[in-house]
Amino acid sequence: MNQVRIGVVGAGWMAKAHSTAFRNVPMLFGNEPAVPVLETIADIDPARAKAAAETLGFNRWTEDWRQLVADPAVDVVDIVTPNDAHAEIAIAAAKAGKHIYCEKPLALTAGEALRMTEAAEAAGVTTLVGFNYLKNPAQALAKEMIEAGELGDITQFRGTFDQDFMTDPTVPFSWRHDRSVAGSGALGDMASHTISLALELVGEMAEVCGLLATFVKQRSVATGGSGHTAKASADAAMRAVENDDLTQFLCRFNSGALGTIASSRIGTGRKLWVGYEIQGTKGALYFTQERMNELQFYRQGEPARERGYKTILTGPEHRWYAGFHPIAGIGLGYNDQKIIEARDLLVAVATGQKATPDFRFGYRVDRIVDAVLKSVDEHRWVTVDEIG
Ligand SMILES: NC(=O)c1ccc[n+]([C@@H]2O[C@H](COP(=O)([O-])OP(=O)(O)OC[C@H]3O[C@@H](n4cnc5c(N)ncnc54)[C@H](O)[C@@H]3O)[C@@H](O)[C@H]2O)c1
Repeated sequence: MNQVRIGVVGAGWMAKAHSTAFRNVPMLFGNEPAVPVLETIADIDPARAKAAAETLGFNRWTEDWRQLVADPAVDVVDIVTPNDAHAEIAIAAAKAGKHIYCEKPLALTAGEALRMTEAAEAAGVTTLVGFNYLKNPAQALAKEMIEAGELGDITQFRGTFDQDFMTDPTVPFSWRHDRSVAGSGALGDMASHTISLALELVGEMAEVCGLLATFVKQRSVATGGSGHTAKASADAAMRAVENDDLTQFLCRFNSGALGTIASSRIGTGRKLWVGYEIQGTKGALYFTQERMNELQFYRQGEPARERGYKTILTGPEHRWYAGFHPIAGIGLGYNDQKIIEARDLLVAVATGQKATPDFRFGYRVDRIVDAVLKSVDEHRWVTVDEIG
């Protein structure tokens, strides 16, 4: 049996999601072409690395990611650290000939993402970026329908990513508010996923014009936890928030379609409103991750008196679904998307094929993020080609 040995860097929330995903792949999809082995996990906080190794079932742990990258018993370096560490670890992993699974956003800047992409392509290693919302049978169906021309010519993409986890001003300052660690806020952290959906379903963007805003100007400094688990005491010092709570931008696709993307981490009332409406000359699609097992489809060609959106519940006819359930409507969850992602990576590594979305796709997303930032800084439309 072919084994693919995984080394995870970062032992927080996404380490749990990725490790759970790898463990589940053989149970859902079988042992071929490879089974994953949770070999080792690294975290700068040794207590966190040790605890994660025990809970998640890794053979070993370390506090030094360089040791993990150099380890001959590691085939895939899986990067789930905050964003500022992605580039250094990925470039070192590529140079060591390791395959790389990296969380989104790929890097802090498009330039950094390009260096990662070029290092991985030069080394000939497989790469995959964690744009897990693409790994939904509903998105596979949407793509098939668009490619088959069922929507006609696409005229409009309206995308969202709202969550209200930071509406409460007492949520502490974490790495997600620190520009040098996270990069942008709602734009890079959240809207990058919506951009991934736009690129996958509608195609390349030509130009953008954006807005950013920060409404909660300062937050209390955390004394424990990391990211979404950060905790602060009642008398904690305050620190200025360095990136955006909210972004909105207009875009024009190469095809001529127009788009808007809006994302907020203080999106009151919305828990995971990642989605879109895509309108075309013959039909339209509507999707929200809050109802991730449903795709709404409108067909212009139906008799006028019967025309209306219909709900398609995902089932075994749609890509990936049959690995989970033999009948439609049972439904998948967030972690199932990570299982599909881990499965796609294992197949690619074991068979020497390309995984998608790869680092070059992550670079394309980061170019759009940088184009929006430049547009905000310079108060003008920016073409994506202006970003190197
Ligand atoms: N795809 C998604 O849906 C999704 C969801 C959440 C987070 N993410 C991404 O995953 C990544 C991690 O996010 P998270 O929420 O798991 O973070 P987290 O704060 O829960 O965990 C990060 C861990 O990395 C460790 N760490 C920091 N720097 C390190 C370094 N140089 N070497 C080793 N360990 C280091 C921290 O100690 C912490 O344990 C980020 O890039 C984030 O954008 C993606």
